Amino acid sequence: MKTIQVRVSSGAYTVNIGADYKLIGHRLRELGCSGKVSIVSDTNVFPIYGGDLSDSLEKKGFEVHYTILDAGEEYKTLSTVESLYKAFHLQGLTRSDTILALGGGVVGDITGFAAGTYLRGIPYVQVPTTLLAQIDSSVGGKTGVDTGDGKNLVGMFNQPMDVLIDPAFLDTLSLSIRADGMAEAIKYGLIRDDGLYKRILRGIDQDEMETLIYDCVSIKNAIVAQDEFDQGERMILNFGHTIGHAVEKCGNYNLYTHGQAVAIGMVYAAAIGEKLQITPAGTKDRIVQVLQKNGLPTETTLTPEQIFEALGSDKKKSGSHIQFILLERVGKAVIVPIETYKLKELLQFM
Ligand SMILES: NC(=O)c1ccc[n+]([C@@H]2O[C@H](COP(=O)([O-])OP(=O)(O)OC[C@H]3O[C@@H](n4cnc5c(N)ncnc54)[C@H](O)[C@@H]3O)[C@@H](O)[C@H]2O)c1
Ligand SMILES: [Zn+2]
Repeated sequence: MKTIQVRVSSGAYTVNIGADYKLIGHRLRELGCSGKVSIVSDTNVFPIYGGDLSDSLEKKGFEVHYTILDAGEEYKTLSTVESLYKAFHLQGLTRSDTILALGGGVVGDITGFAAGTYLRGIPYVQVPTTLLAQIDSSVGGKTGVDTGDGKNLVGMFNQPMDVLIDPAFLDTLSLSIRADGMAEAIKYGLIRDDGLYKRILRGIDQDEMETLIYDCVSIKNAIVAQDEFDQGERMILNFGHTIGHAVEKCGNYNLYTHGQAVAIGMVYAAAIGEKLQITPAGTKDRIVQVLQKNGLPTETTLTPEQIFEALGSDKKKSGSHIQFILLERVGKAVIVPIETYKLKELLQFM
């Protein structure tokens, strides 16, 4: 097992990579937890892993409660959060108890937000079960829900007290959900670590997953440590996401998954960077190669006009500029303000 210490102004905690989730009870005792543990999970994850996780907690003397949410982004809403408050109340949770998120990014984001707001904050731990959640959403403290007006519009920074990552969870992921996580892993390589990019291009075996997760979390941690509240450097984590979000939106969130949309967004960002002569020629082709190898799309039937229209409500749009993330090379990202009208032209060059 490898650990990464996260130290931010709002908390310090450990990310345990290669941990065994069946030893969660022992870990929570180590952290000084006592009393109740309230597990929040979803209808796909709990039936596979909930039993062993609960057993481990009960063996260590915890009083275990659980709430199983309907799986899916469409349930990442305030009304689900409200149902959690109700459950926490019925379970009689107090601030000396612990909440545990067992699931992908949806469960993690909802639970982190509910934990941060119920009784003005109950400590919570993240036990992420998708690759995306293990390398991205469970670290950094962003939590929240979607509203009818857009994704992640309501939320808070709420750091967990511990993150326990067991790569064994990945064995039951569908190929497409695993590929979504790989899109984010590829992103980390592209923005920060060309060695990581090269390793992913060669292919990641099952026994290399733990190292891959470690490298990705290390990169996210280093970036978040510099910019906890997302006001500058942290924006580079959005490489591929400006256009990715637009692509997701154009497809009404059911044509492309997040990872697929980000893959397309990264190809666009490389094409735009090459056109502006910030990104070396040939970079786009290198990105296409690694994405294809991981079963991710590299082009779309959506038109540049459709994508541009969908950019309108993007959070990163400020005034007549969009803060765009481009690659100076594979392994180094830069933030470049691009005028909106110019972006419209640049989108034609894919
Ligand atoms: N907080 C952050 O910093 C941050 C960062 C990136 C993404 N996110 C959020 O994360 C969410 C996406 O997360 P996700 O991709 O993990 O989606 P998800 O939580 O919806 O999980 C995807 C699917 O896989 C299932 N699943 C989860 N683990 C499984 C396992 N081990 N075996 C079998 N099935 C399993 C889930 O039930 C779900 O159906 C989005 O809501 C996004 O906004 C948050
Ligand atoms: Zn993403």
